[in-house]
Amino acid sequence: MISKELQHVREFEKSESAFIAKEDRPVFHLSPRIGWLNDPNGFSFYNGEYHLFYQYHPYSSYWGPMHWGHAVSKDLINWEYLPAAMAPDTDYDGAGCFSGTAITLPDGRQLLMYTGCGDSSRDPLGKGRWLQTQCVAVSEEQDDGSIEYVKSAGNPVICEEDLPEDCDAYEFRDPYIWRTTDGSYRALVAAGRTGEIGEDGNYLHEKGTQLILFRSDDCFKWEYDKVMFEDHRKIGVMWECPNFFDLDGKQILIASPMDMQAEADEANGSIRFPQGSNVCCIAGEYNEETETFSPDGTYDPVDIGLDFYAPQVMKAPDGRHIMIGWMQDPKNGRFADAKEDLSRPGLQDALPLYNPDGYAHGPEGSHIFGQMTIPRELKYRDGKLYQWPVREFCEYRKDRLDYDGVLLKDEERSFDGISGRSIELEVEIAPHEVGAAFYREFTIDFAKDDDHFIRLSYKPARSLITIDRSHSGQCSEITARRSYRAAYADGSLSLRILIDKWSAEVFVNGGEQVMSLTYYTPADAEGITFSADGTVAMDITAYHINRG
Ligand code: FRU
Repeated sequence: MISKELQHVREFEKSESAFIAKEDRPVFHLSPRIGWLNDPNGFSFYNGEYHLFYQYHPYSSYWGPMHWGHAVSKDLINWEYLPAAMAPDTDYDGAGCFSGTAITLPDGRQLLMYTGCGDSSRDPLGKGRWLQTQCVAVSEEQDDGSIEYVKSAGNPVICEEDLPEDCDAYEFRDPYIWRTTDGSYRALVAAGRTGEIGEDGNYLHEKGTQLILFRSDDCFKWEYDKVMFEDHRKIGVMWECPNFFDLDGKQILIASPMDMQAEADEANGSIRFPQGSNVCCIAGEYNEETETFSPDGTYDPVDIGLDFYAPQVMKAPDGRHIMIGWMQDPKNGRFADAKEDLSRPGLQDALPLYNPDGYAHGPEGSHIFGQMTIPRELKYRDGKLYQWPVREFCEYRKDRLDYDGVLLKDEERSFDGISGRSIELEVEIAPHEVGAAFYREFTIDFAKDDDHFIRLSYKPARSLITIDRSHSGQCSEITARRSYRAAYADGSLSLRILIDKWSAEVFVNGGEQVMSLTYYTPADAEGITFSADGTVAMDITAYHINRG
């Protein structure tokens, strides 16, 4: 029943993950059971629990043939690993089971829809690249009460013949599935447009990207419906991992475009989007009858930090929309550890952003790499997407500390009890009195020892907020800093910062903006300092985060 590949990986992950000490994992962010993790997949609530699957290469801490890892949680914070759900074990997904989503069928089974990357026997154009098709797997309860996801005998359920002209069957992935009000199903799938072929024989993607809609009555037989959304290279190429849902009266499209050009923010000379991979939010109206999405006309970054990609949004039973993302910038990813891996057919083409000098290093000797963000509740207000850590996170707060009305004047300070690598800070700052001259800069350094620190700083004159990991100890060429315009102009700023062992998430002004990043300063670099150039009035509340 279970393929030998799946059986092998399950034995491997069980025995090898036993050697990973709790201290070697993030405290409150989900990491792979063993090996490498990228996108969240199949984020859902099923059988009384939250399920999170993830892109998973258990056999090394680098990207490789993709499996689906699996974890469940009652509260979105404390995750329990289940055996890997899928392995690349057929001709249609032998090069990898790529990203996808989950839905509960009317008969109570859970269906996973994902992208199969075909092995070399499925290469109709002889490109030496991976043909990408859409596939399904359905939960089946076993005698012992556990669940297996059985790949459908009808796979692939959407393939190259179903694509409209000009679509690139080798860049066709990440189905997002939902049920419409009439009970039929839709899947929105990202597709590159073939465009011109360059001199080197590779596609240039000149014609941009499409999100293509397919329809089905049962999730097993699909037909092409229409091109729902098109972008002619204005916003990058290949909008990976689309999400499409209604939120507070708006229809929201969140997707992850590759290869964007940098976009400046004229208002203060900072950058709205850096070049490369980004996550974009587009709000608009959706007419379900005509299946027409009419964007309001703007697109915004979802996270303005250094590491955030391919998020997935689910609707919880209590109606909350909850988003979780892969906390890594793919262009600093670790895509191969061995020369022979790089020579695997299709790998070079599939990973145009591979940069052998620019990948992120994990902690010394670690056998895991990659982590998810904290799950975030979403709201749409006044034309903006707000994100806030799920309320369940507050259950893990311990030892509240308050420092109110602190005046910080041209100095650097630390505070008793405020240090560590598993801590939450709420910091409110303002110029020290109304009408006073603005301070010039406010800075928080954390994950700090004598030689290392991560710096979050704010310059009120330009409303410029900056996150900087130049001093994290990493020597290769990863992106080290990013500045963005914070909306407040009166010198006040409100921050909620979740500091974990290898990452931080900074929620600015009530979640109007979020900056996520990873870093690997030594684990005992626990210092946190606050400093001001000028005079700042500051209130701090801190909690240590304890998962027991
Ligand atoms: C995004 C992505 C997806 C793909 C998966 C492969 O990070 O490239 O488009 O399905 O990762 O691991």
